[in-house]
Amino acid sequence: MSPSTDTTSAPVVSVIGTGYLGATHAAAMAELGLDVVGVDADPAKIDALARGEVPFYEPGLSELLRRHTETGRLRFTTSVAEAVAAADVHFVCVGTPQQRGSNAADLSYVEAATLAVARSLTHDGLIVGKSTVPVGTAARLRTLARAAAPDGVEVDLVWNPEFLREGKAVEDTLRPDRIVVGSEPGTDVEPLLRVYARPVEDGTPLIRCDLPTAELVKVSANAFLATKISFINAIAEVCDAAGADVAVLADALGHDARIGRQFLDAGLGFGGGCLPKDIRALAHRAGELGAGRAATLLQQVDEINMAQRQRVIDTVLQVCGGSVLNRRVGVLGAAFKPRTDDVRDSPALNVAAALHLRGAQVVVFDPQAGATAQRQFPTLGYGASVAEAVAAADVVLVLTEWDEFAHADPARLRALVASPQVVDARHCLDERAWRAAGWSVHGLAPAREAPAEPRAQDALVPA
Ligand code: UDX
Repeated sequence: MSPSTDTTSAPVVSVIGTGYLGATHAAAMAELGLDVVGVDADPAKIDALARGEVPFYEPGLSELLRRHTETGRLRFTTSVAEAVAAADVHFVCVGTPQQRGSNAADLSYVEAATLAVARSLTHDGLIVGKSTVPVGTAARLRTLARAAAPDGVEVDLVWNPEFLREGKAVEDTLRPDRIVVGSEPGTDVEPLLRVYARPVEDGTPLIRCDLPTAELVKVSANAFLATKISFINAIAEVCDAAGADVAVLADALGHDARIGRQFLDAGLGFGGGCLPKDIRALAHRAGELGAGRAATLLQQVDEINMAQRQRVIDTVLQVCGGSVLNRRVGVLGAAFKPRTDDVRDSPALNVAAALHLRGAQVVVFDPQAGATAQRQFPTLGYGASVAEAVAAADVVLVLTEWDEFAHADPARLRALVASPQVVDARHCLDERAWRAAGWSVHGLAPAREAPAEPRAQDALVPA
């Protein structure tokens, strides 16, 4: 493949970083008809991807990879120089994890990748940042890239955030809700618009904006989703106290088109590789910028979310009479959500590990995430099926809402456990059917924090 000199056809693209985001993006760009070179520093990962093997569970991705590595439209290399020489548009898809000991994002990978591309350029090119970064990063990287490019080579940098969800990554990348392109005045974004010509023709909204807006769209979207989840979890606590049903309430709220039903499932709360770290990084950055109210709001969202994990632990302690020492706990679910094997910041594993540390004998089963969970928490017990996880259990916890758990036969499981106590932390069981099969179904214990001090005006309200 040689770089495209034709200014009307689709450019050749390189994708730097072939983790979750990069591998999916590379395969999806090939599916859109582009020639793609994926780059990663890890030779084992590159070899696997070149064979169409995905090192994580993502429905539809390995089929897409195989199809396009076979046609030759998609190839992989460990050499940034080789990929950059072959391409005109360079997507930076490396991770921005939370820094150790801070809520800020670690930008070292994204900075190194951008500089490596800029230094390797053999002809003019456009760097496209897709990673989630704190506002202000793109402008700084643009300056660094322009300074690092070889003499006589023009480089520019734009920001094009990615909104894919795990478990639906292929669909989200091929048919995104929107395409956001942030650039500086005077930047030629045409090569990127040619990359996305097909989805835009098919009706995907294209939003053009400046660099800081593009960076903030992504983190604000995640912050809003996280806020929605913590909102419903806060309301769920009121429902529990008042004897109301939060699931019916969420359905009723969801009929209001301004609110919508999605992300109103109360329960154990959010985890994963994105929402928790992104809201913390945004709160941190907002604080740096003097925008204190966003920081305060997100701090509350984070606190409500983390308290949900404690509420599940407290519920189990209550069910077990105050101590889980030597109690057998069957845990259904390890992934941070269904249809993934990702256990990064998984609320399910967090609860399982906390109970294990209190002396419980924990046995975990997850339809996909058993192996990843075992690598991260090798000291927990693991079962190969729902039946193995719940065998002789004193209490069963449903911590990830896989269909397999929602459809499990409560009567069959009742016969396997020592005590028919289930904590449905994701509200996914048919409570009536479980009760009819002899189970006690437990909601979450109240949150621990002390009630706020009454304000002066509250004293004026008649009792
Ligand atoms: C998220 C964003 O959705 C996506 O746009 C962004 O690109 C990356 O971050 P993802 O991390 O794959 O995607 O998971 P998501 O589907 O958003 O779920 C996040 C967490 O929220 C999960 O732990 C899930 O269990 C939890 N959740 C979701 C709830 O607790 N309640 C809900 O109603 C919805």
